[in-house]
Amino acid sequence: MPAPEIALTQRFQTAFAAAFGPEFADADPIIRPSQFADFQCNAAMGLAKRLGRKPRDIAAEILAAVDLEDIAETPEIAGPGFLNIRLRTDWVAAQAAELAADARLGVSVPQSPDTVVLDYSAPNVAKEMHVGHLRTTVVGDSIARTLEKLGHSVIRQNHIGDWGTPFGMLIEHLLEVGEDSPEADQLRTDPNAFYQAARAKFDAAEQAGSGDADAEGADFASRARRRVATLQSGDAESLRIWTNLVDLSKQYFHRIYDMLDVTLTDEHLAGESTYNDLLAAVCDDLETAGIARISDGALCVFPEGFTGRDEQPLPLIIRKSDGGYGYATTDLAAVRHRVRDLGADRIAYVVGAAQELHFQMVFASTREAGWLPEDVEAQHVKIGSVLGEDGKILRTRSGSSLRLMALLEEAVATARTVIDELRPDLPEAEREKIAHDIGIGGVKYADLSTAHDSDYTFDLDRMLALTGNTAPYLQYAVARIRSIGRKAAAQGITAAAAPRVDNDAERALALALLEFGPTLEAVGAEYEPHRLCAYLFSLAQAFTSFYEASPILKESDEQVRAGRLALAQLTERVLVEGLDALGVNAPEQM
Ligand code: ARG
Repeated sequence: MPAPEIALTQRFQTAFAAAFGPEFADADPIIRPSQFADFQCNAAMGLAKRLGRKPRDIAAEILAAVDLEDIAETPEIAGPGFLNIRLRTDWVAAQAAELAADARLGVSVPQSPDTVVLDYSAPNVAKEMHVGHLRTTVVGDSIARTLEKLGHSVIRQNHIGDWGTPFGMLIEHLLEVGEDSPEADQLRTDPNAFYQAARAKFDAAEQAGSGDADAEGADFASRARRRVATLQSGDAESLRIWTNLVDLSKQYFHRIYDMLDVTLTDEHLAGESTYNDLLAAVCDDLETAGIARISDGALCVFPEGFTGRDEQPLPLIIRKSDGGYGYATTDLAAVRHRVRDLGADRIAYVVGAAQELHFQMVFASTREAGWLPEDVEAQHVKIGSVLGEDGKILRTRSGSSLRLMALLEEAVATARTVIDELRPDLPEAEREKIAHDIGIGGVKYADLSTAHDSDYTFDLDRMLALTGNTAPYLQYAVARIRSIGRKAAAQGITAAAAPRVDNDAERALALALLEFGPTLEAVGAEYEPHRLCAYLFSLAQAFTSFYEASPILKESDEQVRAGRLALAQLTERVLVEGLDALGVNAPEQM
């Protein structure tokens, strides 16, 4: 189903080849939305440069060569050589009819689907998921959903932090409080409290005098240190307690994922510990290949193009001088696994912007090692920070990051007061469901509608507002169309097979609908859900203008009414599909 840009591009490229020679057959016609018409072709200026001729002459030649008869009225040359194109309304109508008949809503099937390994969410065991993890989770899930709708195959990898030195302390604390104690249960409900308690014990012990085996507290710290060593040496009892710790944490993650309607499940867990057995080989292979070398006792890769202060090459440390492996080593192992074993055509990491250098160095190192071939695209989808109203990174007053679950519960509770006021007539259970969809949808959408690498301010009132670029605005648009549909059905009105595209508002709405496919494709290629949000927002606005200009149920002409109903219902399908790609539910009514 060709969107206008695609159809126009084909026609112009044929014209370029005919007018200027076959080597111009794939020149970009630079089709852009126009203020003066529907689209404009901006290619004449560039082509004129290439051909050493005047842009307006080139524009005239393009005009003479291009065959747009069935698509558009005769273009006009404007300014230095722009071609303004107004599409024929009957052509737009035919495209809209095709769109309505298309189950994929104009999303083209990829010529060769990609296997995309997508690393997202990645919270840490025995720690509270903070709002930063909210973003990596929500943005990542939307990218996964989008890629799947486009026809790619997505392998989700939840690279949780489930290994490292804090686990000695956590295991010892779990043993002390008892594995079935209420304190242990905090791992499922309030992991930060558990972590803080363990940390406090550890710090107190250190203060009391590290290594002093007689002091009660100091004993905890040395036990914690010993525990890390026994855990890493594969001691069965340590591993059992560690597994328990991870299991309790998983339950916490899944409570959050359920609350957020996020598609991650246990089968997507591939935490840092997954790679334990591969780390020695990663180091050996890189050393043998001459990619890594010992520097100050540590094994390091110095990928080309990374320098620190004094222009010194920057190391990626993969084995510390004490023999331990770190975060970087697991990521090198993960790249190799994802490309070699999982067959990735693309790998992407939805992770905080602060880790940019880490990922650039991991990608560069694995390219040098040949583990990340040139034809496999690697991308760090950088996530910005969530700020409080004071413009600083969102934290509670005590200084620890805000509890995510409490935040989500507050969003749902606020949405509940809104819907209770708006629709007291609806049954209790229904209002509860709608409050969930609005509250969670509002939070997720606020995250998604900001460019993923910019910071944004967490403002619940704005997120849940019924006006502006918000989830509730879009959800309300859907609910309104559904309500029209219910009324139509009650009056025995059925929609036409083809949407009506005649007056300006209908035409503008139809043109907006035709952009869904190309928009979704761009979002999947660039990992930019905010572009989908912007699109859906403008689509909902086009619907509002259409509905003001073109009444549906009040229209007396039966054919017009049926055609407009079809246009409204096509809009509903696109809005719902778009919201689904974002992971936002659309309630039946509001
Ligand atoms: N657990 C890490 C954090 O909370 C994020 C891990 C991201 N993924 C990765 N492959 N390094 O910051």
